[in-house]
Amino acid sequence: MSDPINAQFRPRIFSGIQPSGGLTLGNYLGALKRFAALQGGEAETIYCIVDLHAITVWQEPEQLRARIREAAAAFMAAGVDPAQSILFNQSQVSAHAEMAWLFNTVARVGWMYRMTQFKDKAGKNSENASLGLLAYPALMAADILTYQATAVPVGEDQKQHLELTRDIAAKFNHDYGVTHFPITEPLIEGVATRVMSLRDGSRKMSKSDPSDASRINLTDDADTIATKIRKARTDADPLPGSMEGLKDRPEAKNLVNIYAALADETPDEVLARFEGQGFGAFKPALAEVAVSALSPITARMSDYMADPAQIDRTLADGADRAAAIALPILERTKEIMGLLRTRN
Ligand code: AMP
Ligand code: TRP
Repeated sequence: MSDPINAQFRPRIFSGIQPSGGLTLGNYLGALKRFAALQGGEAETIYCIVDLHAITVWQEPEQLRARIREAAAAFMAAGVDPAQSILFNQSQVSAHAEMAWLFNTVARVGWMYRMTQFKDKAGKNSENASLGLLAYPALMAADILTYQATAVPVGEDQKQHLELTRDIAAKFNHDYGVTHFPITEPLIEGVATRVMSLRDGSRKMSKSDPSDASRINLTDDADTIATKIRKARTDADPLPGSMEGLKDRPEAKNLVNIYAALADETPDEVLARFEGQGFGAFKPALAEVAVSALSPITARMSDYMADPAQIDRTLADGADRAAAIALPILERTKEIMGLLRTRN
């Protein structure tokens, strides 16, 4: 349900991905594939490689630089077209960091401590986490609201951060008596908003999981993909005729959802075909679908990676276009807050 306030803003979609490791099938199905599909609609699409978020935990500088380019290659290989969308890296548009500071004064400390991602990433010794890791959601709100974005496609794990973005927008509008920020809608849709680990159906597939067998990386070759799917944890029962029957079988449910998302079918359509069959039949079929969906992406990614200078030019052009939208909104925000402007 869209907030009535949002009718005052032009439809604009914003989303971001951290360049903190190789991207996975979870990132592709939960984010990249949907980013590409949202292009060319009513809303302008802006996609960001959030390098300032990545450095909230330690990143080796040389490796970070490579991963930013790799993320850009993955966006484009997955179908994000820099001519139709704005594609850039966050640190090149200083409005993000500046807006984040303004939001640090709007958001409350207690909101930050409640974030489950902070608790997960900070672990037991949270006193030793970077201050940036705690403030991370204020920067994410800045990413979104510096463009007055009305909708944000993400996976399920980002729901809490988007609620906090809405809280910051509402508190700002309320405190200053304005309708300056939209109350951004999360777009968490489809069967692949939470792709689970191939080794443990209760954990999300993640680029930071120590076990490489738990995930499919966008850089995995066909043999590796097939092997990982063959070894994926499952049970010995045959597949039922509909998703109802998979309620208590998380690993089986995950593989069926992955198949459906890759093949652009519903999980029930997939099960209607495989009803009564076991994983001995299902897994090779899934591997085939996965390889035929992912191999062209992997190939395009390495083509893009072969020309880093071209990637840098694309990102620089994106940053210029992003800054042109962000700066007037940032300036207006400062003006609303009473920060004196002394130069033009
Ligand atoms: P991150 O890799 O944490 O920067 O996440 C980038 C985007 O991918 C976000 O929209 C996440 O919600 C999404 N994402 C990450 N892992 C998964 C997963 N296992 N299933 C679905 N979406 C995911
Ligand atoms: N926090 C998001 C993640 O880990 C990445 C992110 C940063 C983001 N800024 C954003 C996502 C703005 C959507 C919109 O996945």
